[in-house]
Amino acid sequence: MTETKQRVAVTRLIPSVGLQLLEEHFEIEQWESDAPPDREVLIKLLQNKDGALTLLSDRIDGELLDMCPNLKVIGNMAVGYENIDPEAAAERGVWVTNTPDVLTDATADIALSLILSVTRRIVESDKFMRAGKYHYWEPRMLRGTGLADKTLGIIGFGRIGKAVAHRARAFGMKIIFTDPVADETNNAKRVELDELLGRSDIVSLHCPYSDDLFHLIDDGAFRKMKNSAYFINTARGKLMDEKALVNALKEGEIAGAGLDVYENEPAFQQELAGFDNVVMLPHIGSATHETRDAMASLAAKNIIEVLHGRDPLTPVNKPRNT
Ligand code: GLV
Repeated sequence: MTETKQRVAVTRLIPSVGLQLLEEHFEIEQWESDAPPDREVLIKLLQNKDGALTLLSDRIDGELLDMCPNLKVIGNMAVGYENIDPEAAAERGVWVTNTPDVLTDATADIALSLILSVTRRIVESDKFMRAGKYHYWEPRMLRGTGLADKTLGIIGFGRIGKAVAHRARAFGMKIIFTDPVADETNNAKRVELDELLGRSDIVSLHCPYSDDLFHLIDDGAFRKMKNSAYFINTARGKLMDEKALVNALKEGEIAGAGLDVYENEPAFQQELAGFDNVVMLPHIGSATHETRDAMASLAAKNIIEVLHGRDPLTPVNKPRNT
């Protein structure tokens, strides 16, 4: 008797290592595009599937899960999972998993890249060269801000926040942080948010998003920052009020910003593109070959574990029926 294979949906083109792992065990239906499927297509894709590998732009809520009653596991290929309602999934007996750890270094590297880019005016200097404006070495030309002895304020002192602190210390920075649970270390002092905003030369966001943190960094927060301070966001766009950021830049309330995420990405406030003191990236925090392969593999392995009757490696919920 031939055994029917379990069926898994993959909601996008992903690194082949993840797809190959899944193909060894399951029948796969893949949305073969880089563009997200719209809601109807997503539901159709996930219906009659036992598992799904999803991305952070796929919204998975109770309503969708009710229409996909065979689902046993959602393997989100991201560390953040605010696109999924893990409680609604748990109530329906569905595991939700994410991909922590494997992207910590890559994301911390991007935060440091943004810090260096804005403080040392890297993108602006590159444009200057390409525009043929480099005529003489001038002592006052394109001066930026040094990092040694400056204070880095980290909001969210988890895996990525700590990895950023580790790198920043090598540049001679002092570290302060806010976090609901993380403990102080010898080199990093815990402070309240207002103190962090007021004291930091660079404010960098590293907390996961949840609705209670919507616009954590708003008009008032930008006003509390030093006029000489830089704002870095490699976490989630909805943590900041993007219009307030534009105003803060216009009013000179802060010195510049480095962004990898946007409030309504892929859209962004067009005025941001007009500032020389803003560096913008298209959400590439985890975009290295090594890390994206590791994320795809981990998401696939989580699905394999669950569909083989075992607990997943990196769950973010616990189904009621297990
Ligand atoms: C990317 O933003 C992720 O959450 O993995």
